[in-house]
Amino acid sequence: MARSDFTFADLHLVTDDRLLAPRAWTQLQSAWAADLLSQVPEGPVLELCAGAGHIGLAALRQSERRLVAVDREPVAADTICENAERVGMASRVEVRCGELSQVVEPGECFALVIADPPWVPTSRIGRFPEDPRGAIDGGDDGLAVAQQCVAVIAEHLLPWGAALLQLGTRDQVGALDLPAGLVVVEVREYPRGVLARLVPAGGDQVSCAAGPSR
Ligand SMILES: C[S@@+](CC[C@H](N)C(=O)[O-])C[C@H]1O[C@@H](n2cnc3c(N)ncnc32)[C@H](O)[C@@H]1O
Repeated sequence: MARSDFTFADLHLVTDDRLLAPRAWTQLQSAWAADLLSQVPEGPVLELCAGAGHIGLAALRQSERRLVAVDREPVAADTICENAERVGMASRVEVRCGELSQVVEPGECFALVIADPPWVPTSRIGRFPEDPRGAIDGGDDGLAVAQQCVAVIAEHLLPWGAALLQLGTRDQVGALDLPAGLVVVEVREYPRGVLARLVPAGGDQVSCAAGPSR
């Protein structure tokens, strides 16, 4: 294992070679998420598949909202904690280590969800030998973890909230089996991936209607 420093959206952070190497273009996910914070209701932000936590930390650094960052790898959880300390955000960052479908409690509601699941179909992961398999393997169609993300989003997004999901292609966004009440309203394409903005259909057609949970 080796730790290395990197700079992401002007934040000086650390990562670990057991994690996916941070990709500079994903600063655009942070920037879009930061823009959305001025439009969504009050409440915390949930980051799914956080890795070193850089996307969520950069998105919230000008905000006072709480961030719940989730990853199933203990090395990711440790790294997010260290990075939150480094940038002075530890008091409002909660790190949860586990399967994303299991670490968000029933009834918890979030104003914004940022998600960066593995999206490479298993048959193609051999093209990326430098990347940890668990960070990129999205199953047969590349959407296995993304489907779990949209299920969590549908259950835990506040009315009038928003989610930003990262995938590999626009076709993958179109192939998602979206839960009832959740719709894709915008897709932005970049050379190395796409970002999809999802919202509750009609603004409030999701099940998390209790108001900010914590
Ligand atoms: C594509 S990487 C993204 C990491 C980070 N956001 C980045 O930009 O480097 C996907 C991350 O999701 C985590 N992951 C994969 N499947 C998961 C699951 N079922 N539950 C929680 N985390 C998962 C992996 O450990 C990995 O850190």
